[in-house]
Amino acid sequence: MLARLEEEDAAERAAGLPAAERSRAVEPTTGRFLFSLVAPQTDCEVLEIGGSRGYSTIWLAAGVRNLGGRVLSVEHDPSKIDAWRRNVHEAGLEDWADLVDGDAKEAVPAIDDVFDVVFLDAEKDDYEELFRLARAKLEPGALVVADNVLSHVETLGAYSAVRQADASLVSVTVPLDRGLEVTVVLVDPSATMRLPRKGGGPAVEDSSTGSGGTSG
Ligand SMILES: C[S@@+](CC[C@H](N)C(=O)[O-])C[C@H]1O[C@@H](n2cnc3c(N)ncnc32)[C@H](O)[C@@H]1O
Repeated sequence: MLARLEEEDAAERAAGLPAAERSRAVEPTTGRFLFSLVAPQTDCEVLEIGGSRGYSTIWLAAGVRNLGGRVLSVEHDPSKIDAWRRNVHEAGLEDWADLVDGDAKEAVPAIDDVFDVVFLDAEKDDYEELFRLARAKLEPGALVVADNVLSHVETLGAYSAVRQADASLVSVTVPLDRGLEVTVVLVDPSATMRLPRKGGGPAVEDSSTGSGGTSG
């Protein structure tokens, strides 16, 4: 199933089809990464923005099947939606994934749910707005993973920078495949004070204890 979708995506890229006609699926290693984030969580509620034909949804749904949970995938292109339904059905994952048919900018605010993980993989110009909409559905401890932050660094470099400068979040660019910005919503925004400074400087809290500090 996954191999077929990978071949489909590769053939569309090789044929130079316009983006709107391609599945634009994540790389298999990104699929494994997404699986690894959700599979250890109990009752993991996942919001996916940009489901396309279901490749990343299948990785996420296979992950939540491990300890329980659900993937809600938002997609607005009718041709992708039909394929999403067929592929998720064929993968036997219908009990772990649902599709919201519509524009995420309208659909996400209307969802009455709280999520543990958000996978953001829609149009790059919309990431800021979509993050803001998704953020309203997140509690401390939630994760947001945004794809393409390195492949589209000219557009999404600012997205990463804003997340990394936000004291209520901890965010890091993971250089896997097309680049993933992995952002954690903090339990307590002041927790950033206990993190080492960028560039490896000492933690703020450590330097204020007056203990002199020891290594190891
Ligand atoms: C990069 S593809 C997603 C690939 C998918 N995550 C995968 O790995 O299989 C982006 C998808 O987002 C959808 N999309 C873009 N903007 C959207 C929006 N505002 N609401 C819903 N879907 C959107 C597009 O139709 C497209 O199918």
